[in-house]
Amino acid sequence: MSDESKDRPGAAAGRRGFLAAASTAVMSAGLVGGYGAFAAIAGRFLYPARPADRGWQFLIEEARVAIGDSLHYRTPAGENVSITRKERNGEAGDFIALSSTCPHLGCQVHWEGQNNRYFCPCHNGVFDPDGVGIGGPPGDAGQSLPRYALKIEKGLLYIEVGFDSLAASGEGELIEEPERSAAGHDPCLDRRGGKRSA
Ligand code: FES
Repeated sequence: MSDESKDRPGAAAGRRGFLAAASTAVMSAGLVGGYGAFAAIAGRFLYPARPADRGWQFLIEEARVAIGDSLHYRTPAGENVSITRKERNGEAGDFIALSSTCPHLGCQVHWEGQNNRYFCPCHNGVFDPDGVGIGGPPGDAGQSLPRYALKIEKGLLYIEVGFDSLAASGEGELIEEPERSAAGHDPCLDRRGGKRSA
């Protein structure tokens, strides 16, 4: 028997050991990768990242706004927002900030303090004080006015807006000081100045 044939059993065992170790390593790497991907997905689900592209913009001294007053603000992206005061506790919860753009066909809604509602005159859309559609096409479709976050710091009222749009379009602006109603402007004009058809 040659030396080569004598070494064969040991060599075969070595190859088997090497293959077993290699396959274990591959499986382990696969498991680690799989669990890692799963953990990353689960982490994103459990702890969703707060959009880093949002920030606060100053609106007005809260003391200047009386209960029932509504002010109008245009976001850096050009969205019109209606901010209405409902209570006077010196808290952000005294106010509600809602998009002025009707979710039906995009006309401008306005606050009617005397009727305690937001109204869209294009097709008689009616929203309750929280912006929930309760009449007309938005009520039928279960549509609501998008809501914006507010905060008060040292007596100053701020609204949360997107930084992406800030960078793209510049500052937002308070386009109307507090007043009781939006009478006098045409609410059927959209923000580009076009008139919506019924
Ligand atoms: S656009 Fe407002 S009800 Fe139609």
